[in-house]
Amino acid sequence: MAKAQMMFPAGFRWGTATAAYQVEGHNTHSDWWAWEQVDGRILHNHKAGQASNWWANAEADLDAAAHMGTNAHRLSLEWSRIEPEPSVFDQNALDRYRQILQALHDRGIEPMVTLHHFSNPLWLVEKGDFNSQIVVSYFQRYTAKVVAALGDLIPLWITINEPMVYMFMRYLVGAFPAPQKKGLLAGMEAVKHMLLCHAAAYHTIKDSYPAAQVGVAKNFPVFQAKPGSYFPARWWAGQVNFWFNELWMQAMVNGRLRTFIGSTPIANLAGSFDFVGVNYYTRFYVKFPPLGGFYDPSWGPEAVVSDGHYGEVYPAGLYQVIQNALNYHKPIYITENGLPDEDDDLRPSFILTHLREVWRAISFCYPVMGYYHWSLVDNFEWDRGWTQRFGLISLDPETQARDMRPSGRLYRDICHLNGISSEMAAQYTPALLATMFPGESPQSPAWQG
Ligand code: FCB
Repeated sequence: MAKAQMMFPAGFRWGTATAAYQVEGHNTHSDWWAWEQVDGRILHNHKAGQASNWWANAEADLDAAAHMGTNAHRLSLEWSRIEPEPSVFDQNALDRYRQILQALHDRGIEPMVTLHHFSNPLWLVEKGDFNSQIVVSYFQRYTAKVVAALGDLIPLWITINEPMVYMFMRYLVGAFPAPQKKGLLAGMEAVKHMLLCHAAAYHTIKDSYPAAQVGVAKNFPVFQAKPGSYFPARWWAGQVNFWFNELWMQAMVNGRLRTFIGSTPIANLAGSFDFVGVNYYTRFYVKFPPLGGFYDPSWGPEAVVSDGHYGEVYPAGLYQVIQNALNYHKPIYITENGLPDEDDDLRPSFILTHLREVWRAISFCYPVMGYYHWSLVDNFEWDRGWTQRFGLISLDPETQARDMRPSGRLYRDICHLNGISSEMAAQYTPALLATMFPGESPQSPAWQG
């Protein structure tokens, strides 16, 4: 008799995800590189340095990804490498990206490519980047260059990663490299320009490759009022959810951006996405009034919280955000999901419980096409430097020594089975066996053969 298994459909994408600046190393023309040089901006003044050494040797980790049995990987291109000076395109950089994309194909790993993942060429910042409409024609031209040089190797595209996180961290919190103008109004202007950039890139890609699938990776946190809160907090949670989660999506659906006083039409935007990219990490209890931070990090005593108070482990939220994504009537990809957990004591159960939610969604015929775990290997975590380790593979950034974490071995077993099983729970996270697979145990009849 077989042990209990939750199987995924044939062809399901089992992936991992990375971003250029975080893994490549020495992206000296990026605004992040300049930003890092000033003390006090990155936790412990960490530097990206050679990062995970992908510019020199992405292939080492891609070998590991192939060994794990993954068939998909999400990576990004660094605009500042491809166009280090305005209108100067670096053919060597494009050639290296071609090599990396070919290396993925050679290993049976389908690439999903992000054009903009939190990092800008320095020259673009000097010109005002997303504060100014000029960004749209620059982004369109960069996209056209990438399409011409690499498009034949890219079936799946993300134009912009987490636009609302980018706006929030950059224009409101100030933890990401500075735009020319900050504040809410400048941030909303940037959202408008990001939407225009997205639309321009979408059509540029589709004009040359109509069969390419193009979307956005949108971070969808679950926002809730703390249980037992009164009406204002619940109302506020709804507002935060609307502005952070819904605003961007509604704009992509109907081509109009809601503003505080009405709405603005955005040219060529309506319907310009082929799938919904869901980045899901955690739930936030929003505070009302939102003084001293918009969320309340005092999770209940029962909450499981990942390294550095990054967030609560809340797998049910993944199911919730998948259900919300059904509103957009497009295929869904889980383009990021993971947690910082250096000693890997939470990640195995994190992976199994989140994948159970994906399986539940698929068992209701919700169109979830793939899951990309963030991340394949430890990498430079933006303003949090090297303090947060998201990798299935651990990395010492000094020596570049790597080690597969137990969760990496679990992910390998998952990819090879095309599903999750009670046996995996028993092996990697025994405490989960009884709750996730009730009635299953090494003593149960099914296990006795
Ligand atoms: C997401 C980012 C990604 C990484 C993970 C942990 O918000 O897209 O680059 O930092 O969080």
